[in-house]
Amino acid sequence: MNPPEHKEIRQLARRFLEEAEPALAEYEAREAFPWPLVRRMGELGFLGVFVPEELGGAGLDFWAYIALLEELGGYASLRSILSVQQSLVLTPLLAYGTQDQKERYVPRLARGEVLGAYGLTEPEAGSDAGSLRTRAYRERDHYVLEGQKTFISHANVAEVFLIFAKTDPEKGNKGITAFLAEREDGVRTTPLKGKLGLKAADTGMIFLEGVRIPKERVLGGEGDGFKIALSTLDTGRISLAAGAVGLMQRALDLSLAYAKERHQFGRPIAAFQLVQAHLAEMKVDLEASRLLTYQAVAKKLRGERYTLEASMAKLFASEAANRVAYRAIQVHGGYGFFEEYEVARLYRDARILTLYEGTSEIQKLVIGAHLTGIRAFSH
Ligand code: CAA
Repeated sequence: MNPPEHKEIRQLARRFLEEAEPALAEYEAREAFPWPLVRRMGELGFLGVFVPEELGGAGLDFWAYIALLEELGGYASLRSILSVQQSLVLTPLLAYGTQDQKERYVPRLARGEVLGAYGLTEPEAGSDAGSLRTRAYRERDHYVLEGQKTFISHANVAEVFLIFAKTDPEKGNKGITAFLAEREDGVRTTPLKGKLGLKAADTGMIFLEGVRIPKERVLGGEGDGFKIALSTLDTGRISLAAGAVGLMQRALDLSLAYAKERHQFGRPIAAFQLVQAHLAEMKVDLEASRLLTYQAVAKKLRGERYTLEASMAKLFASEAANRVAYRAIQVHGGYGFFEEYEVARLYRDARILTLYEGTSEIQKLVIGAHLTGIRAFSH
C-alpha cells in the first residue's frame, strides 16, 4: 500500500510544531485551551484539510489529513482538536448535511473560525450509546432539547454542537435524531478539569434545558441519528489510530536520540541488547499500527463499509501506543519520570486512546460480532 506521501503538508506541520511547542507546553501546564495555536492551525488549513475549497477547506485528499494527524500525533492536545473538528463534526456535515446546512457551518468550521463538538456520550450512556436519554420534543416547526452530555471534547469552546437525542424513545436506537445546535440557542456548558492527559484540550459537560432548534437543523432524517453517530465514529476511530501512530513515532524518535546520547558502563545505552529490544518492539508496534490504519483508510476511500477495519486499527494502535510510551520511559530511565522529558507527557496522553471513541473492549466486541455474526452487546 503506497498512499501519497504529502511531504509538503508534513513539512508545514513540522514547522508549525517547532514554533508552537514552547507555547503548547505552557498551555498544558495551565490546563488552558491554546486558542492562538488553534487560530494558526485554521490559517494553515489544518482544520479543513479534506473539505473542498469552495466550502472554505484546503481541498486536499483524506490521506493528507492522515499525514497531518501522524505529524501532530505526538502533540495529542492539538491532534485531538483536529480530529474532533474534522472527523466528528465536518465529516457528518459533509456526508448528511443539506446545502443550506453546509453553507451555514462548513466554511467557518473548515477555516477554524468556530469550533464544533460531538455530543453523544451521557452520564448513563457511554459504551451503550444507544441508551442515551436526551429528549427532543417536536413543537410545530421546532424541536425542544432536554438532557445532559458528558466528557464532550470542545464543550466549552465550540459554537456548533452535533447533538444526538431521542425523538421517539419507543423505537430504541432507531428513534435517535441528530441536531445541529448552536451556543446561541442557549446551550450551556461547564468544564471538566483534572484529566490525566490531553491537558490543553477542552473537555466538558453540555446542559440542554429547553433548547429550541428549528426543524431545518435536523441532520439527516428523523430517526437517522444512531447510524450517523456510528458511521461518524468509523472515521473518528481511524483518525485516532493515525494519531496513535504519530505518538509512537515521536516516542521512538525521542528514545532513539536519548539512547545514543546517554552513556552507561562506558558505552551509549543504544549499544545494549535490552535497550535495542525495546526500540525494536516499539518500531514493530508502530509499523503494524500504521499498516492497519492505512488498510482502513484505503477501504473507506473505496467507498466500502470499513467498520471492522476501523475497529481493528483503533484497537491495535491505541493499545500499542500505550506499550510504546511505556517502553519510551523505560529507555529514558529515571529521567523519563519527569515532566521535563517529553516522554512523560506521551505516556499520559497515550492513555485516553484506549478509552474514547469506543473503548478497547467495545472494539473487540465489534470485531467479535463481525467474526461470529453474534452481537455480544444486544439488549
Ligand atoms: N455505519 C453505518 N451504519 C451503522 C454503523 C456504521 N458504522 N454501525 C452501525 N450501524 C447501524 C447498524 O447497521 C444498525 O442498523 P440496522 O439495525 O438497520 O442494521 C444500527 O446502526 C445500530 O447498530 P448496532 O445494532 O450495531 O448498535 P448497538 O446499539 O448494538 O451498539 C455499539 C453498537 C458498537 C456497542 C455502539 O453503541 C458503540 O460503538 N458504542 C461505543 C460508543 C462510542 O464509541 N462512544 C464514543 C463517544 S464519542 C467520543 O469519545 C468523542 C470525543 O469527545 C472525542
